[in-house]
Amino acid sequence: MRRPLATALTLSLALVLSGAQPAPARNAAAAPAASLAGYWEFDAGTGTSAADSSGRGHPLALQAGASWAEGVVGPYALAVSPQQDAVSSGPVIDTSQGFTVSAWVNLAGTSGYQTFVSADGSQVSGFYLQLRGDTGRFAFTRLAYDSTAAYGMIATSAIVPQPGVWYLLTGVYNAAAQTSSLYVDGALQQTIHALAPWPATGPLAVGRGFYNGAPTDWVNGAIDDVRAYSGALPAQDIRALAGTGSITVHTGQAGPAINPTQLGAFLEEINHSGDGGVYAELVRNRDLKESSSSPVYWSAVQDRGAAASIALDTSRPLNTANSVSLKLSVASLPSGGRAGLANDGYWGVPVTPATTYHLSFYAKAGTGFAGPLTASLESSSGRAWARATIPAITASWARYTATLTTAQGIPSSLDNRLVIVASNPAAAGSSAWFAMVSLCPPTYDSTPNGLRADLMQKIAALHPGYLRVPGGNYLEGRTLATYFNWKNTIGPIQDRPGHENTAWGYWSQDGMGLLEYLEMAEELGAQPILAVFAGYTLNGAVVPQGQLAPRVQDALDEIQYATGPVTSAYGAMRAADGHPAPFGLHYVEIGNEDFFDTSGSYNAYRFPMFYDAIKAAYPQLKIIATTNVTSRTPDVIDDHYYSGNPGVVAGDAHVYDDASRSGPRHIVGEYAVTQGSPAGTLAAALGEAAFLTGVERNADIIIGASYAPLLVNVDAQSWPTNLIEYNGLVSYGSPSYYAQQMLGDALGDAIAPSQIAGGNGNLWAVATTKAGGTTYLTVVNRGASAARIDVDLAGASAVSGGTATVLAGRPAAMNSIAHPAAVVPVTRRVGPSGPVFTRTFPPDSLTVLTLSAG
Ligand code: AHR
Repeated sequence: MRRPLATALTLSLALVLSGAQPAPARNAAAAPAASLAGYWEFDAGTGTSAADSSGRGHPLALQAGASWAEGVVGPYALAVSPQQDAVSSGPVIDTSQGFTVSAWVNLAGTSGYQTFVSADGSQVSGFYLQLRGDTGRFAFTRLAYDSTAAYGMIATSAIVPQPGVWYLLTGVYNAAAQTSSLYVDGALQQTIHALAPWPATGPLAVGRGFYNGAPTDWVNGAIDDVRAYSGALPAQDIRALAGTGSITVHTGQAGPAINPTQLGAFLEEINHSGDGGVYAELVRNRDLKESSSSPVYWSAVQDRGAAASIALDTSRPLNTANSVSLKLSVASLPSGGRAGLANDGYWGVPVTPATTYHLSFYAKAGTGFAGPLTASLESSSGRAWARATIPAITASWARYTATLTTAQGIPSSLDNRLVIVASNPAAAGSSAWFAMVSLCPPTYDSTPNGLRADLMQKIAALHPGYLRVPGGNYLEGRTLATYFNWKNTIGPIQDRPGHENTAWGYWSQDGMGLLEYLEMAEELGAQPILAVFAGYTLNGAVVPQGQLAPRVQDALDEIQYATGPVTSAYGAMRAADGHPAPFGLHYVEIGNEDFFDTSGSYNAYRFPMFYDAIKAAYPQLKIIATTNVTSRTPDVIDDHYYSGNPGVVAGDAHVYDDASRSGPRHIVGEYAVTQGSPAGTLAAALGEAAFLTGVERNADIIIGASYAPLLVNVDAQSWPTNLIEYNGLVSYGSPSYYAQQMLGDALGDAIAPSQIAGGNGNLWAVATTKAGGTTYLTVVNRGASAARIDVDLAGASAVSGGTATVLAGRPAAMNSIAHPAAVVPVTRRVGPSGPVFTRTFPPDSLTVLTLSAG
């Protein structure tokens, strides 16, 4: 026998006062208040010292290679294996008086004695907060005196510890009551009489015990957030350390119904969301209007002795909407040479294996220009990935098409350009003109003039109930000359003039026009929420009342374009544009963020003029105001929430709890925690998720919410924090993206009322039920400590199992192009269980429990 503790067990068991009962009240009342004597958070994550945050000056020295692991409270924990520990330089607590020690522990293996916290005497430890090797159970062990011959007093737990699971162990010596108690996860396990306390005057050790005058019983695993108190900590404080609490879900009570629009998406042209983003076009400056002085993003190709130049030219207009063309002048073209033009794309032209790209362009040959032309996708070092030949072009403007198909097995790359060249020496000394050169990869749903597949797949995976388009500031523009004038954005792409996106500072070719926004909604299975220009621009200009009628008519025409029969004027136009079926439109929003208009015109005449005209023509449509109005009663008001502080947005979860149920409903058309760039941190995502629990709980008055902005090209960022990031080739979702996806997957049919009691003070929850017996419980833990929660699915008779999907990590963690999956949810099976079960929600986490509950 290695030690006499086991033989002393009989004696100590005989002294057991109670199992899971609190110590006698008469003695507990006599216990002095506990005060923190040492607190080691183990959050440095580096170095060989663990600071004492109690202010008592007892840092621990990490010994023999003890290091850092992922923490359960804060980012890091102490990582130890045999011979490794962390030790103070002297005593921290007086073990002859009342004291308390607690530690979060996570074992790599559960065999043998492993002592998490102890205090050295001369022969043995003054206490051992440990896993016992003889019973395989957690224990708070004390020896009667400083000798291996002393009998042991062991407060123990019946829990069978599992490797890889965090437990909070708390040992309490109540000197007044002469009792020792052990708590696991805040729950009392056992209280025993403990006599003959003695002072262990050596150092406090974390990760080992002391026996027979030497260190022993090293831990193999991680230890976090160790606290030592002088005095016996009261039971409620011990429960608080564990974050214990409860969530009751009334599965039998039907709360507000979830709206079909509950979680939506919002898209505007910002961050190159459309051009160079979800609009699949790969040629940049297709319409040659990005600069009026030079053909930016285009260059002349003059290879192997050829000499050529390119220039903007207005002398050979394609049409009135696109009057600028690209003139190629070939000065010389020896046999074997190439003369032509190349386009750099949007920060490169993406090339992927076994892919067919559709090329089209308008061209016109000058006198003597001899074909054919060769089009190719080429790397910056000149390697051709795909080639096509266009037979000779004619002297009149005509459209030419070709396909370029890459081989299987080539690497995906972005550092490429589109090249169109002549190589017939007879072309020397001649010119040709090009316009609307377009290159398209396969699009989502194979739609012509369509959308980029990987981005659409990511948006579609959110199952947005609505798509709010086309802005945002982009709708308004900075000036009256540059708002989103929808009539200029429809029809064949070569007939769209484009416009300067003054809201975000770049040219918009309007290939992504009104029809494409509506089709995007359709392809996503979302209803469009159509925002119409309302006579206010970002520079503060307001269309006077007497001049607003044409803008109101534009809005009526726009609605007819979206929804009118093909026999109507604008419905016919939509049909001619390739979409005879009307779109399902239920909501129209008048303007954007009109609270910025301090003139009062929105309430005075702008909103009323649009409201009255639209209601008269389309009484079934619901009208959204962008700020409070008193002149009319809008159906819905669009509220926007942005803050760099996750706590502020989380706090907004309660804004609607006491809001009027009789006035207009609300939509949160834009929300985001702007922390992290180009995408948010996990902390940002958790702040938003907490907010969304409140949005959902108030589904009776909030029809939906959408993150903003949805998309960002990482090479062209206009806004700090965004949901989905990409370059020309690859894309990834932010933690906010995954949080929104998790919440969207847990929407159910109706809210099930729920309450949180206790916990760590940083919990948010929402529960929903779905016909067929599914209960979803979404819990956000924004605290740095885990929360051990008793979940009660009140009204359910059984829980036959389900899944737990958890998004967790360091609060500052982010995804990136290099590490797109640094923060992603993990789904595991849970249950079956009864309707009452206990679950630990990790620090800084979002959890969705999807449970089959009957
Ligand atoms: O989402 C970015 C911008 O924020 C939107 O364009 C505008 O509506 C808001 O101010």
